[in-house]
Amino acid sequence: MTSVHILNGPNLNLLGTRRPEVYGTTTLAAVEDLCHEEAARLGLDVVFRQSNHEGRLIDWIHEAGARVKAGEVIGAVFNPGAYTHTSIALHDAIEGTELPVIEVHISNVHRREAFRHHSYISPVARGTIVGLGVDGYRLAIDALHRMSLA
Ligand code: DQA
Repeated sequence: MTSVHILNGPNLNLLGTRRPEVYGTTTLAAVEDLCHEEAARLGLDVVFRQSNHEGRLIDWIHEAGARVKAGEVIGAVFNPGAYTHTSIALHDAIEGTELPVIEVHISNVHRREAFRHHSYISPVARGTIVGLGVDGYRLAIDALHRMSLA
């Protein structure tokens, strides 16, 4: 079955208890459940991952990217956490693999500190979803699915 990869960066394992006034109270396990629910509706499998390590995220982007041409993977929903604002290496990984990526942020980063306003990921993402809470994951899966049919 074709799959969609959901990649989560640093500190997202703390979802549910970390700054609930900013990120809400939904846990990462509950986000995984909602991703499975949405993907199943569309006939897709889910590979759901989280890491606090940049290199590991890069390896996962390479892995997903290598499976797109064979039609095994439609793309990745990617919440890079704080690496969004720092990582040229993640930018290069997406650019180099041409992995279709929808960048997701639970919070509206543009309403927050200035250092969150710049993203190294957005220029190589197909689209971005910002500030819609964990619903952004569901919307991003839908968007990747539509793109894969186009
Ligand atoms: C985040 C926003 C980032 O600025 C922050 O570092 C995160 C979470 C979000 O989902 O809103 O870890 O990506």
